[in-house]
Amino acid sequence: MDKLSITGGAQLRGRLRVSGAKNAALPILAGTLLTDEPVTISNAPHLHDVTTMLELLGCLGAQVAVDEKLNVEVTAKNLTELLAPYELVKTMRASFLVLGPLVAKYGAAEVSLPGGCAIGSRPVDQHLKGLEALGAAVEVKDGYVKARAANGLVGAEVYMDLVTVGGTENLMMAACLAKGTTRLHNCACEPEIVDLGNFLATLGADISGYGTPTIEIHGVSKMSGGQHRIMPDRIEAGTYLIAAAATGGSIKLVDVDARTLGALLEKLQQAGAQITVGDDWVELDMHGARPIAVDIETSPYPGFPTDMQAQFMALNSIAQGTSTIRENIFENRFMHVQEMNRLGANIELHGHSMAVVHGVDELRAAPVMATDLRASSSLVIAALAAQGTTTIDRIYHIDRGYETIEEKLQQIGGAVQRVS
Ligand code: EPZ
Repeated sequence: MDKLSITGGAQLRGRLRVSGAKNAALPILAGTLLTDEPVTISNAPHLHDVTTMLELLGCLGAQVAVDEKLNVEVTAKNLTELLAPYELVKTMRASFLVLGPLVAKYGAAEVSLPGGCAIGSRPVDQHLKGLEALGAAVEVKDGYVKARAANGLVGAEVYMDLVTVGGTENLMMAACLAKGTTRLHNCACEPEIVDLGNFLATLGADISGYGTPTIEIHGVSKMSGGQHRIMPDRIEAGTYLIAAAATGGSIKLVDVDARTLGALLEKLQQAGAQITVGDDWVELDMHGARPIAVDIETSPYPGFPTDMQAQFMALNSIAQGTSTIRENIFENRFMHVQEMNRLGANIELHGHSMAVVHGVDELRAAPVMATDLRASSSLVIAALAAQGTTTIDRIYHIDRGYETIEEKLQQIGGAVQRVS
């Protein structure tokens, strides 16, 4: 099993290109099921999760091709299966996003229940409640969700009980082909939702309001083909910014949208970073200084993202002062704490949702284990800031969300090797 070997201490310096966003690519690829015509997706990141989604589309009978420029073309005509099996859904929860498009277009779908995962129980009740509101008959049986709408979905007012990114995405896609008008209320406003909305509009959906809490969709009878470029990955971008800050370094990211990074950039400034932004770039300079501890609290966009909580904790662990970190989205997203403490951090957990981080003068290398995607990247940051050589085990988690992480870190001066 691959490991990362990281020798810390060097300040990260240089320029990096940000990849396409995993969390935009996955729903958008699921959305290709809404049309019979070819759809071309560019800037999709080369990640294990994207391959899993392409495999799922292939299992359903879609034609998937990748050209020499690594654009993905999907033609989802004459599907042979309307079933997403447990074997695929258990490896990647985002597989559940095929449910909405399949029921909307084919009037039936069976998708395995995703079940719990490392970061929490993560139910899908809001997805199912919304589909029922659109007229689907939904049954949960033998570990599968079986949804049926033989005469098609019908537009409705849908009120989500909580803000859910995946729930909003599944229902946006389903409503595109429903008869009449759907209004989705209490929607997630994440930039990835906006990317999906733009993609659906390109395919001919009559959709507005995405990026706000209320999305209005007038169903169309048929959607067309089209081309779409995936937005830059704001979480990957944020991870490299935090890594540079934790090492006292200086970095310029290109192919990035600074507007999607607002909450993080403000916290980095409070930590002592000088931030400069342009149309499609962000520059961070710590001028060699040790970071200052900053309190953070996760919340839905535009608040501080849960997907950057672990990485910011790594920064706070070597900062001057004490900080509190509150995780409000997932109930089990502090698994990196024990591993960081193995590296010499001084972090106390108070229940499931609060951590108190007492900044230490230095971290020291130790063998550690990756537990989930973002926890893994936080350990990479801690290792880059630590004295000595740290080995991080189970890095398959990192490969789900970070394209060629060791190469990118080497490019900015990180002493990082992949070893088996
Ligand atoms: C998306 O997951 C992202 N995944 C996650 O990124 C991200 O952490 C999360 O949104 C929050 O921003 C993808 O986009 C593929 P949610 P999702 O539905 O859609 C509860 C990463 O590291 N909930 O917004 O599954 C749920 O349990 C990943 O890249 C219900 O109770 O997240 C959670 O507590 C990890 N019922 C909260 O809502 C539902 O029906 C938010 O979950 C749905 C969700």
